[in-house]
Amino acid sequence: MNGTFRIGVLTLSDKGARGEREDESGRILAEMVADLGKVERYAIIPDDAETIMATLRGWTDADRLDLILTTGGTGLSPRDVTPEATLRLLDYQVPGLAEAMRLQSLRKTPHAMLSRAVAGVRGRTLIVNLPGSPKAVRENLEVILPVLPHALAKLTGDSSDCGHS
Ligand code: MTE
Repeated sequence: MNGTFRIGVLTLSDKGARGEREDESGRILAEMVADLGKVERYAIIPDDAETIMATLRGWTDADRLDLILTTGGTGLSPRDVTPEATLRLLDYQVPGLAEAMRLQSLRKTPHAMLSRAVAGVRGRTLIVNLPGSPKAVRENLEVILPVLPHALAKLTGDSSDCGHS
């Protein structure tokens, strides 16, 4: 399948933004969504709520991407602010995506319960938080990847009945 969705990959990492860590997780995300569409925006920024919100606002309201995947900043450390910054921008949540990721991830590690990742919609853009490590990124995204084409088709205006494919 060669999708045509417009995608953004946003890595939240203080160390990465300072150039002290290679962004393997962002690279994995970009690889995993290659069949879904084109990664048109990519950034690595510090764990700062205002910066995160400004970037997400630009990629939604101005650039009108179909999908934004964030990685990092979903845990419990004081600098982990990705879910709060995302929630402040969402029009509505899609809780099942985050629930499914945590549920399946718990089969792999009990640490999965420590991710506070959220998912939801702003305008016509689906935003999904993922944890930060390369392993966690892969394990979480593979859970929701199969439903993303249908989710994005609905979001971008497909009014056909569900359940026929
Ligand atoms: N989910 C999966 N599938 N695999 C993992 O290794 N790591 C967990 C969790 N989710 C993990 C996972 C860990 S150790 C933490 S602290 C949280 O995600 C939050 O990660 P973050 O702070 O990098 O966003």
